[in-house]
Amino acid sequence: MNIVEAKYLISSPSFDKCPAPDRPEIAFIGRSNVGKSSLINMLCGYHKLAKTSATPGKTQLINHFEITFLPSTSRKQGEEVRWYLVDLPGYGYAKTSQRSRRRWEQMIEGYIRKRENLRNLFVLIDSRHEPQKIDLDFINRLGEWRTPFVLVFTKADKNKPLATTKNVNSFMQALQRSWDEPPVFFVSSALTKQGRDEILNYVNELNKTKIK
Ligand code: GTP
Ligand code: MG
Repeated sequence: MNIVEAKYLISSPSFDKCPAPDRPEIAFIGRSNVGKSSLINMLCGYHKLAKTSATPGKTQLINHFEITFLPSTSRKQGEEVRWYLVDLPGYGYAKTSQRSRRRWEQMIEGYIRKRENLRNLFVLIDSRHEPQKIDLDFINRLGEWRTPFVLVFTKADKNKPLATTKNVNSFMQALQRSWDEPPVFFVSSALTKQGRDEILNYVNELNKTKIK
């Protein structure tokens, strides 16, 4: 499956200001600077669709993009599917004040729990690190909220392959403490495009199931 078109639509401060939930939606979240915007650009095949930055905390609002793709089961023109894709602001930015952290939490909880067309959340984890409490806590909260999600371990090009495997395994082991079934996960690199086909195939599978 390929995304044939992607365009930026709007940035919203809360879920109720987002575009009408009239089509399926996927969203990307994770620690500040983990590579959300870079992954979105890599998946969509655009360099500058979502704003990336070496300075953490760049994405502050709920950013909606419209993506158009041709499901891999259909080859005909006119059978394109339009979805929303969302770039969410990251968590865990050290310089954030208590007040703006609270605002972030409210915005994200409202969006994740109330956005009725949200099919799946992609939770990004930096593959260079040992399991971090902030990521595990966030994922456990998704369990309480019954939010469907998968994991993406980013920046794999920055590691020796064995280091990625080691960190992914430790992370999945840490999750075993609170999860009976491990979540689906992918390993990605915005630089080498590792993980692109697998993630897009997953989106294609989501398109086949009509339930949330
Ligand atoms: P915020 O919006 O600030 O939360 O950040 P973000 O999660 O959207 O991260 P962003 O995509 O802006 O990337 C942060 C930095 O990491 C940038 O300097 C990117 O170039 C770099 N980066 C992101 N993904 C990769 C990757 O797969 N490989 C490498 N080598 N660098 C990456
Ligand atoms: Mg970003």
